[in-house]
Amino acid sequence: MDNNKKNVIVSGARPTGRLHLGNYWGTLKNWVDMQDKYDCYFFVADWHALTTGADKSSTIVENTREMVLDWMALGLDPQKSVFFRQSDVKAHAELALLLGMVTPISWLLRNPTFKDQLQELYKQKYKGQEDKMKKAEGVTKQLAEAAGEDAETTALHSDMAVYGFLGYPVLMAADILLYDSAKVPIGKDQLPHLELTRDMARRFNHMFHTDLLREPEPLFTNIPVVPGVDGRKMSKSYGNTIGIFEDAKSLEAKVKKMYTDPLKIKLDDKGHPEGCVVCAFHKLYNPDWKARETECREGKVGCGACKKQLIELMEKEIGALRTRRAELAATVDVEGVLAEGAARARAVADRKAAAASRAAGLI
Ligand code: TRP
Repeated sequence: MDNNKKNVIVSGARPTGRLHLGNYWGTLKNWVDMQDKYDCYFFVADWHALTTGADKSSTIVENTREMVLDWMALGLDPQKSVFFRQSDVKAHAELALLLGMVTPISWLLRNPTFKDQLQELYKQKYKGQEDKMKKAEGVTKQLAEAAGEDAETTALHSDMAVYGFLGYPVLMAADILLYDSAKVPIGKDQLPHLELTRDMARRFNHMFHTDLLREPEPLFTNIPVVPGVDGRKMSKSYGNTIGIFEDAKSLEAKVKKMYTDPLKIKLDDKGHPEGCVVCAFHKLYNPDWKARETECREGKVGCGACKKQLIELMEKEIGALRTRRAELAATVDVEGVLAEGAARARAVADRKAAAASRAAGLI
């Protein structure tokens, strides 16, 4: 055993569009911090993007490039970590296929993320066409009823419920198990997927009398609260995001629009920082946020001045990131970085996939 060997961390992100500050504080900042402590593999989950967005496939290549530049501008370093594109490492598909042989469909149908996201996709597809939606619902409902099933299965009977989407956790398990990941940094929403990964590893090992696949542990990282400008969770679907590289003008406009304590109208009204979006951002960008909260509570600062200072603090960080990103976009050979990462990933993943084939009796 090589004692200098660090634990492996694997994490992926789907190339579905530009990143926002919720992604940064929730995920990417932790990735950056993990680089020195672990052997990290960060990949662009392009196959995963297809499982829920085959209709948007024309954006994947461009989004992949943009995402890698975003990562690098934030401080992820291809010298320290391995970055690659999932579809460049075919072993992910190979191990997913093998894991599919030991994964009961019932596990996948029970997966709460599958059920929730399917409903969500179904709604989105028919957004703005409620008539059609009703019709589609009517038809599938009839089919479901004819089959003696309840209305909850409506979406399941639609053509959006593709095999690859049901199999999302199988591919994700392969992503993780190929690299002997000790830990997987995930948010609470991804926990069912990690549980499935552990179940699949155990079942594979049991079926094939091996200890090849290592069960990973979840790594719950520190995730601060990042509200959107309207006070709800920051999310693309709510249209309340601030981009990681937001330009100075729209950053200013967005901070000015931020939801504040509705009871604080005049400067000397006593404020309630708890529900205030501006305060939540001071916590992230202002080292003296505690003093600011006290001033707010005591009615010693107005929301206008508080926002003005926040704009300055945020622009200082975001402006620097913007400059760095522009430099990288002009100089980095993104395809070259991904090709090099894929070669490093393949060196590990291909061996594991071959060992899995051997364990399964194919070789
Ligand atoms: N499921 C993750 C997401 O939706 C992306 C992902 C795919 C992933 N494979 C992974 C994350 C493996 C961690 C490890 O964001």
